[in-house]
Amino acid sequence: MKIISVSNVKGGVGKTTTAAVLSAGLTARGYKVLMIDSDPQTNLTMCFMPEPTDGTPSLYHVYAEGKTLDEVKTSIKLNLDLVIGDFELCNADMQFLKAGRLKMLRKAFKELKSTYDFVVIDTPPNLGILSLNAFLVSDYIIVPMAADSFSLKGVRLLKQTLDEVEEETEKEVSVVGLLLTKYSDRTNVSRLLEKSVNSAAELLNTKVFESRIRQATVLQESQIAKIDLLEYAPKAPVTTDYQAFIDELLNRIEV
Ligand SMILES: Nc1ncnc2c1ncn2[C@@H]1O[C@H](COP(=O)(O)OP(=O)(O)O)[C@@H](O)[C@H]1O
Ligand SMILES: [Mg+2]
Repeated sequence: MKIISVSNVKGGVGKTTTAAVLSAGLTARGYKVLMIDSDPQTNLTMCFMPEPTDGTPSLYHVYAEGKTLDEVKTSIKLNLDLVIGDFELCNADMQFLKAGRLKMLRKAFKELKSTYDFVVIDTPPNLGILSLNAFLVSDYIIVPMAADSFSLKGVRLLKQTLDEVEEETEKEVSVVGLLLTKYSDRTNVSRLLEKSVNSAAELLNTKVFESRIRQATVLQESQIAKIDLLEYAPKAPVTTDYQAFIDELLNRIEV
């Protein structure tokens, strides 16, 4: 089982979209996948679930009541499960400040009985307790970046946090790549931005994925329709971008 977190301290860069399309893409390739919505904004949940989700067990119950992932997961379709997010987690940093709460997710994974090939965790745009818990269990981190909101400072903070996590767990948490999203025109990207993104990759000891995800409104359409992109628009150019990214990712992590 490989655990992959999608993270960036910036919002609106395509974390949730990437987590959703990646998960559906891995399932379509025959893998069994568990998604965890670890952002209190619950956008990943909204990509797949009818609203309201009141009464459905969520990640909040793992943190607050020590429920197991098996107890709180919801089946989306064959080989695709989701632990839904919860707005209640928006004060997780305050509520779960006590010692031990940094490793809640790790404990939950130790107790996991179901088997999965991949777990994909969507994280909030900050480095609080929910992101730390995700990093502590992750084998790989994908960092989506959008040209319009690039932040080298954010990358530095992420790097610092990952270094601390590595010390804590004594295992490598590898940034498997930077993914350029909302990409418009290759020729339009300023040399400055290319340079910045490469410096960011260097800082994180990783490479930029060659596959870039173009700007495309069909992504929003599929999210509103609550149908995953691969089913909603199998032939759209942006779907091809994401498929190429998934191939590249699988190559990088050698499965
Ligand atoms: N490649 C893209 N082209 C156009 N819109 C996109 C693209 N990727 C994401 N979006 C849209 O941008 C918004 C933010 O994306 P999202 O994945 O939720 O970012 P994050 O999780 O990083 O905050 C959403 O409305 C989403 O539909
Ligand atoms: Mg998001």
